[in-house]
This record gives sequence, structure tokens and C-alpha cells, in this order.
Amino acid sequence: MKLAKEKTRSLGFGVIAGLVGAALSGVFAMLGGASPGATIPVFIGLAIVVGTAHYWKTILIQTMRDEFKQVKNRLSLLGDGITETQGLVQLSGLNQPYPLPFGGSWALTPDAAAILAREIAIRRPNTIVELGSGVSTLMAGRILQQMGSGHLISLDHDPAWAAETRRHIIASGLQDYVEVIDAPLTRQQFDGKDFDWYQIPDQLRQLEQIDMLTVDGPPQTADSTVLSRYPALPAFAAQLSSQAVIYIDDAKRTTEKEMVEQWLQLYPGWKSRMVDTIPGTCFLERQE
Ligand SMILES: C[S@@+](CC[C@H](N)C(=O)[O-])C[C@H]1O[C@@H](n2cnc3c(N)ncnc32)[C@H](O)[C@@H]1O
Repeated sequence: MKLAKEKTRSLGFGVIAGLVGAALSGVFAMLGGASPGATIPVFIGLAIVVGTAHYWKTILIQTMRDEFKQVKNRLSLLGDGITETQGLVQLSGLNQPYPLPFGGSWALTPDAAAILAREIAIRRPNTIVELGSGVSTLMAGRILQQMGSGHLISLDHDPAWAAETRRHIIASGLQDYVEVIDAPLTRQQFDGKDFDWYQIPDQLRQLEQIDMLTVDGPPQTADSTVLSRYPALPAFAAQLSSQAVIYIDDAKRTTEKEMVEQWLQLYPGWKSRMVDTIPGTCFLERQE
């Protein structure tokens, strides 16, 4: 379709060039500088040469653009690979008994995980609530175990995935530090809007001081007008301690950017800080 359009454009250029050439050769002929019979060959010759040159120039530029785009994409993937490897190296000090199941498109990327690990180690939160279990649960649990204090409760809407994370928790010997609770998604209202969000278990409602809230679930729906993770702050705002930090994964996505913007407008007293990781990491802390 695009190629056909280019061919028509090139033909147009050829015809225009031919006409200009023919007109000039006609003027030349009138002045006695050229034979009148040259007008038609000049028109045909110029139309073919200019039309063909224009067409091949366009194709060449398009091919170069496509190749440049491909090289750019490859370089970007290579950059992500290097960043992930750096994250894995940074996490290697955690002494996991076996490699963490990083690498799937659902899991926290190693660079984002390294940022989370550092934040937990520096802040030493007593209580962490995580939305969306997985490799992040195991990594956070290992740090709490190494520090010898703290507890993480992870909510998961998918019972099969929750069971999978629990298997890893037991295999890693982290059951004293982390637990995964099944929390099916139910229709609920937050700040005047309806969401399918975790049904909060009573055990969690009774927590008074949450020091860290990790927002990595539930999965974003295909409809980007729905901010699937929005309820996290309204649901826990009253339970967050004065030193609490909110860790947001996938912060480069438009849905998460919009979510943070709405949170900052509706929940004054918080400020955001972006960290450049592959999926984008955003921290929310209280303003001093
Ligand atoms: C973004 S994931 C959470 C990832 C988790 N924080 C981690 O670092 O691995 C959000 C939800 O997707 C689901 N999920 C995670 N990994 C999955 C997988 N490999 N296949 C299917 N569902 C998955 C789980 O229900 C999880 O709570």
C-alpha cells in the first residue's frame, strides 16, 4: 500500500520533471537552439530518469530507517540485558540456596529487585505488605532473615501462583519471615470508583503500622483506562506508619504514572521519587 503510494509519487515527480524538460526544450527549439523533435524524447527520458531516481532514493531511505530502528531496538535489548545482569550481580550477596526464578515477564526485573533489596536493608521495615507475590517475596524474605527481624505479608489473587510462591518460601526456609495470603479480587469502591481488587483479610486489617507497601499486583487489565493498582494507597493509607515507604513497580507504564499522579493529588503529604530501572521504579515517601 505504502509502496504503491511511493510509486505514484515518483511517477508524479517524473511526469513533472519531464514536462519541465519538454517545456524548456520547446523554448530552446523556438529560439533555434534545439530541434523541435527533441521535446517528446526529452519528456520521456526525464520522466523515466527522475521518476526512477526518486523511487529508488525513497526505497533506500526507508530501508536505512528500518535498519536503524532494528539496530536501536537491539541496542536497547542489549542495554536491558546488561542492566539485568548488573542487578543479578548486586543480588548475588543474598546467599539464596538456589537461583531465584527471575526472568519471566511477570517477575520483578533484577535491577528493580536490587533497588528494593537496598531499600529494605537501609530502612529495616518491621512490617511489609506486598501486593503480588513471587520472586520479590523470596528476595525480601531473605533480607529480613539476614537482618533477623521484620515480617512480610504478601497478597495474591491467584491461588495457584500463591501456592507456587509458598513452595519456594519453604524450599528457601523463609517461613518465619514471609507468608502469602490468598486474596481473591472482588468488586470494591475506592475514591468513588469501582475496582476489582484484593479482598483484604482481617489479619491485615488489624495491622496498625505498615512500614513498606510494595505495589506489584494485581495485573493491569487490558483496558488502560482502568488503573488496576490504584486501590493500594486508599486501602492502606490509614495503616501506613510515619516512616512508611511505598514501592511501585512498572512505574514507566502510563497506568502507573496516572495512578501516582492521582495519588499525589488526592493524598497530600506524599512525594514521589523515580528510579530509572527497566520497568521503572517509583517510591512514595511522606513529605517532611
Ligand atoms: C507482576 S506479578 C507479581 C510479581 C512478583 N512481585 C515478583 O516479583 O515475582 C502480579 C501477579 O501476577 C501473577 N503471576 C506472577 N507470575 C506469574 C506467572 N509466571 N504466570 C502467571 N501469573 C503470574 C501473580 O498472581 C502475581 O500476584
